[in-house]
Amino acid sequence: MSDLNVLMTCPRGLEEVLCTEINAITGKKAQADKGMVRLSQANWRDVYALNLHLRTASRVLVEIAHQPFLKEDDIYRTAKNIDWQQHFTPDHSIKIRIESRHATVKSINFIALRCKDGICDFFREATGRRPNVDKSNPDIIISVFINDKESFIYLDTSGEALFKRGYRQETGIAPLRENLAAGLLMLSGFDGTQNFFDPMCGSGTIAIEAALMASKKAAGLGRSFAFEKFNHFQAAMWNDLRQQAESQIITPTIKIVASDVSAAMMKSALINAQKAKVDDIVRFQKGDFASIQAPAENGILVTNPPYGERLGEVTEIRNQYPNWGSTLKKQFTSWTAGIISADRELPSLLRLQAKRKIPVYNGKLDCRLYLFDIVEGSHRKP
Ligand SMILES: C[S@@+](CC[C@H](N)C(=O)[O-])C[C@H]1O[C@@H](n2cnc3c(N)ncnc32)[C@H](O)[C@@H]1O
Repeated sequence: MSDLNVLMTCPRGLEEVLCTEINAITGKKAQADKGMVRLSQANWRDVYALNLHLRTASRVLVEIAHQPFLKEDDIYRTAKNIDWQQHFTPDHSIKIRIESRHATVKSINFIALRCKDGICDFFREATGRRPNVDKSNPDIIISVFINDKESFIYLDTSGEALFKRGYRQETGIAPLRENLAAGLLMLSGFDGTQNFFDPMCGSGTIAIEAALMASKKAAGLGRSFAFEKFNHFQAAMWNDLRQQAESQIITPTIKIVASDVSAAMMKSALINAQKAKVDDIVRFQKGDFASIQAPAENGILVTNPPYGERLGEVTEIRNQYPNWGSTLKKQFTSWTAGIISADRELPSLLRLQAKRKIPVYNGKLDCRLYLFDIVEGSHRKP
C-alpha cells in the first residue's frame, strides 16, 4: 500500500522542523498545520521509518477513514464500515482517543463511545467476538478527530508517545519532553556536528538528545511500537530498518557538556544518560552558570532555565538573570545560545539582543525560544 495518509502530531512550534525531518527520512514533502504535520502517498515502510527516526513528533497516525460528520450516529456507521480485521483481531485490547476542533456536539465522550460500539459491532458480526477496552495499557489506540463537518479515524502506529524514548527514569523538576528538547536543538541550529553545552541541564534531557543526534542514533531504537502488533506487520522489513539504523551509529568527536548547580540533578542526568547509552558522550559537571567556563571556543548552548512558573522564588531567579547574561557575554563569544522561557520579561534581564524569538509550547505553556548570537560587544546597553 503506497497511498497512506499519515498525520504526525508534535508540540506547537515544531511543525517546520518536523517537516524537515520527515523529508530527510522519506524523501517526501509534508504539510504543516497547527501542532500536526500531514504526509500523503506514504507506505508502511515510511510509517515504520518515521516511528523509528523522528525526534520531534509525538505520534504517527495512519488515516483509515475520512467521512462527513453531522451527528453522533455518523461516527458509529463510519466505524462499523471499516474492515478492522485487516489491522487487528478481537483479542487485542483497544482504546479510543478523541479530539475535536469546532465540532458542535454535546459530548465528545459520547462520540468516542459510538466509535467503540461501531468497532465492536463490526467484530461481533464478522467473528462472533469483540475486543475489550483497556484505557491504561491498550494494544491498539484508535484516534478520532472531528470538526464541524468531517470525521477522521486514525490507527495510532506509535502506541506510547514518541517522546517516551525509553531512557528517562529520573525526571527532577519541570523536565522537558524529549521531542521538545530535540526540537529546541534543531531550532537553535544544532545538527550534531557542533560543540554543545547545557549549563542548567536538570535531568539532562537536552544534552542527551544532543548526544543521540550527534551519534546519529535513531530516537526509537530503544523501544517498541504499536504497529508491531498489527496483523499486517512486516517483521522482515522492520528488522531491516532497525539494522540499517544500528549501522548508521557513529562515535561523535564534538564536545557535549551538561552542568547544573544541583548535585542531585547531576546524578539524575547521569542515570538517564547511562540508560540512553550516551554517558560516554556527555560530560557532566556540577557548577553555577554565573561562574561557568565555556567548554570550547564555539558551539551551541541550549538551556531551559528556571522561570518561576513551577520552581522556586521568582525574585531570586530574577536577580540571577543579569549574571547569566554576563557569563554568556564573557565566556561564550562565538557561541549561539537558545534559551526557552514562558516568561516574556526574564530573558530581557540577560541584557542581550535576541536575533529571533520563536513561539513554542512546552505542554500548555506558551513559551518563546530566544536565540542569541553571542559576539564581541553583543551586550545591549543597559
Ligand atoms: C527547568 S529545570 C531544567 C530542566 C531540564 N531541561 C530537564 O529536562 O530536566 C532548571 C534547572 O536549572 C538549575 N539551576 C538553577 N539555577 C542554576 C544556576 N545558577 N546554575 C546552574 N543551574 C541552575 C536547577 O537546578 C534546575 O535543574
